[in-house]
Amino acid sequence: HKPLLIAFDGPAASGKGTLAAVIARDHGLPMLDTGLIYRAVGFLRAQKGLTLHDVDALAELALTLDLSVLDNPALRGREAGEWASQVAAIPEVRAALKQFQVDFAHQPSGAVLDGRDIGTVIAPHAPVKIFVTAAPEVRARRRWLQLVKDDPALTFEAVLDDIRLRDERDSSRASAPLEMAEDAVLLDTTDLGIEAAIELARNIVKDRR
Ligand code: C5P
Repeated sequence: HKPLLIAFDGPAASGKGTLAAVIARDHGLPMLDTGLIYRAVGFLRAQKGLTLHDVDALAELALTLDLSVLDNPALRGREAGEWASQVAAIPEVRAALKQFQVDFAHQPSGAVLDGRDIGTVIAPHAPVKIFVTAAPEVRARRRWLQLVKDDPALTFEAVLDDIRLRDERDSSRASAPLEMAEDAVLLDTTDLGIEAAIELARNIVKDRR
């Protein structure tokens, strides 16, 4: 078997991470959630009190990122997503994080990566690219159902606002904006349950590999 490289991209709460994890398990491939790396840089930025204008310090932070921070549960929260998308718009931060992701993608075993620019920038030669999306209201409802367990006061509207803001920022930035690669397959999960989405993703992988 040749190494199998699979790229999942899409907006926040589209389900790409869940699908990437299932596909990685199916094929016994290592998986990298690249959003978590941006979350870590955004989180450390806030913790260290750096501003978004401290570009050199932010690039250094990204370049020397200690991967053990990726286990921090705080990275999964709402605030960390917002902080991530702020630092992710800085080209020097993206450049500093690129090599690690490219190396991960080119392991002899192959790999599964999920993010915003995997099919376009990190692994443009990936034979399998899946762009996972869903209507903003549907993504917000899924995310709200997860978050409200730990934060009962959180409203659906607040989560929808977060999602819209992040979509707008991720799609409009100049550096590696969220966009579907020309050769990606679109998987719209708006009207799909998780099992149906998994089945479609498995079929795409089977057809493309
Ligand atoms: O996927 P997740 O919601 O964890 O990503 C957090 C943020 O990190 C995104 O909103 C986006 O701004 C940024 N990101 C990125 N490129 C990636 C992965 C994430 O710009 N490959």
